[in-house]
Amino acid sequence: MEQVVLFPSGPVSYYYGSTFNKVWDICSDKEVIFITDRNIFDLHPAIFENKKTVILEAGEASKSLAVVASIISRLLAMEATRSVVLIGVGGGVITDITGFVASIYMRGVDFGFVPTTILAMADAAIGGKNGVNIDDVFKNIAGTINQPSFIIYDNQLLTTLPIKEWSNGFAEVIKYACLFDAEMFDELSQHDLTYYRHNESALKNLIMRCAEWKNKIVAEDEHEHGNRKLLNFGHTAAHAIENLYKIHHGEAVAIGMVIAATLSEQVLQLTATTTLQLKNILRGYELPTKLDINTHEVMNVLKMDKKRKGDHIDYILLEDIGKAVIQPLAFDEIENVITICMQ
Ligand code: GLY
Repeated sequence: MEQVVLFPSGPVSYYYGSTFNKVWDICSDKEVIFITDRNIFDLHPAIFENKKTVILEAGEASKSLAVVASIISRLLAMEATRSVVLIGVGGGVITDITGFVASIYMRGVDFGFVPTTILAMADAAIGGKNGVNIDDVFKNIAGTINQPSFIIYDNQLLTTLPIKEWSNGFAEVIKYACLFDAEMFDELSQHDLTYYRHNESALKNLIMRCAEWKNKIVAEDEHEHGNRKLLNFGHTAAHAIENLYKIHHGEAVAIGMVIAATLSEQVLQLTATTTLQLKNILRGYELPTKLDINTHEVMNVLKMDKKRKGDHIDYILLEDIGKAVIQPLAFDEIENVITICMQ
């Protein structure tokens, strides 16, 4: 099924329930160069056979300006012209770096994505933000907002996805349910990770719903002046926890959502039952609900967040499932809640 979404910076065609070969329909008369990582290349050699492909090391370390420069050198060596289409095949690291390289190579060339993880399908490949980290610590600090021409969804590519990556992706799925979709929240509470791993049509449906929520929010606020900030639900504390304790992004987001829900109980009267339901859902998708952390250490990192305004920070909270708000919170208030809910 093809759906075209119009963003301020341009239209994007979404091919849901498609196959990798859709690339050749879309780009039949074009010069195509794939950008992927070593894992995906080794797991799916047939799709890259005899195709021009730039292969990166798998992992976040590839999101650097040095790797961008090396990709550009490879593109020049391959004599890629301004009419090339760069196609990122992989998870969020690959889609971010492909979008960034395509935005600057010869001042901008066409690009598309074939996401290969739940996280990239439901969230990371969507939205037009792309970029790299600087000095490993300044995440996504150099980048652009530029939409791909197309995103192709091929669920066959998920058959080789490690189980940890399924949970990782479901943290973002659960985020969309909390933020916008009480029905999805109920559906997630009735099932678990095993169900979606073995029920392709339910999985496709779920991913498409997340993608549609993200598209709606980004189409209305591409440059994140307003409601796009809501997509940071669970991510404020998560970024600090992920950096300090080197856990998976999805695990940190899960813990971050528990913290945000507990804060919402204190500040907005979210019911304790809802927080409990959220914790049960997280467990069903093999995600943690707490971690042995040093609250003081976490607060020190939080205080360096770019959303800080004096002794407050804008936090994404829930009035209810499907009703998210941006709420300024004092650091003291946050520290108390983290201490209580991580015990
Ligand atoms: N590429 C991720 C985003 O735009 O949110």
